[in-house]
Amino acid sequence: MAKADASKLDWNNLGFEYMDLPYRFTAHWKDGKWQDAGLTEDATLHISEASPVLHYGQAAFEGMKAYRTPDNHIQLFRPDRNAARLRNSCERLLMPVFPEDKFVDAVKQVVKANSDFVPPYGNGATMYLRPLIIGTGGVIGVHAAPEYIFTIFAMPVGNYFKGGLTPVNFTTSQYDRAAHKGTGQAKVGGNYAASLLPGENAHENGYADCVYLDPVEHRYIEEVGSANFFGITKDNVFKTPKSPSILPSITKYSLLYLAEHNLDLGVSEEKIDVHDLDQFSEAGACGTAAVISPIGGLEHDGDLHVFYSEKEVGPVTKKLYDTLTGIQFGTVEAPEGWVQQVE
Ligand SMILES: Cc1ncc(COP(=O)(O)O)c(C=O)c1O
Repeated sequence: MAKADASKLDWNNLGFEYMDLPYRFTAHWKDGKWQDAGLTEDATLHISEASPVLHYGQAAFEGMKAYRTPDNHIQLFRPDRNAARLRNSCERLLMPVFPEDKFVDAVKQVVKANSDFVPPYGNGATMYLRPLIIGTGGVIGVHAAPEYIFTIFAMPVGNYFKGGLTPVNFTTSQYDRAAHKGTGQAKVGGNYAASLLPGENAHENGYADCVYLDPVEHRYIEEVGSANFFGITKDNVFKTPKSPSILPSITKYSLLYLAEHNLDLGVSEEKIDVHDLDQFSEAGACGTAAVISPIGGLEHDGDLHVFYSEKEVGPVTKKLYDTLTGIQFGTVEAPEGWVQQVE
């Protein structure tokens, strides 16, 4: 694949696609320690055919973004939270942890080295960063790998869901994403392999993605594809599901804070019954890639439940979106410690 050329990109029409940028960060775990850490131009990983990542899915990753501000600085949104979540994912899969402070520093190095690819301020485009750690080395039994590669690569992106702030519809899935005591709280490769078929089924039926229900009763909402769910109740409470198999979304926890402190809403993390959607006047999917995508309707057992509208974003969702993205792009004052300058 040819290296991307920043001068040829149409910043207003970026999709959510891989691009081979000039630099990425890599580090190798060998002989019990991280070594050879630094930037490289090589976009290819050279690994053994017997690497545990290939057979047994020993892989964890993160998704985060760099934002260009109106005064042309570049900043990160809560990168320490991504570092902490990656630590948790690595511990769940018996992988060595890349130190959290070094993680944030490495992210900054990648953004700086590829800064021509951080989109200009103004249309919501950002640089998406993908930290990844995989188990490598030759092992054929089901064991933790003897070696690991940690890498962070990046690419400029536009909207994840085609609608942007236009509502999209979702459908519930018959499949489970993760078990309650499985790996749902960790951001690990296997969860996403398991989501490919349900996601594809949803797309074939004309939906943006599927909503997973809890793996025990198939009744309580868990996740919206690879984003968390939130609803705004008719009496102005920001509600989001509580479950041990949901990925703790950094965006969701940020919205819980902003709903309470900036928008003066009530907030609650609790079970949300798919048969009790009438309580909501608005609903949305939230995550780093999805940002906030309004949910127009949710199909379940043949009925489409429309929340606010299938055409327009609701007023509370819009306010949350403006507040969150204002903080991320540096136009709204951030709570202490939420943004870190890159340059
Ligand atoms: C399954 C899943 N849920 C939720 C999220 C949203 O998490 P965050 O807001 O930290 O990006 C993601 C994306 O990372 C995800 O993959």
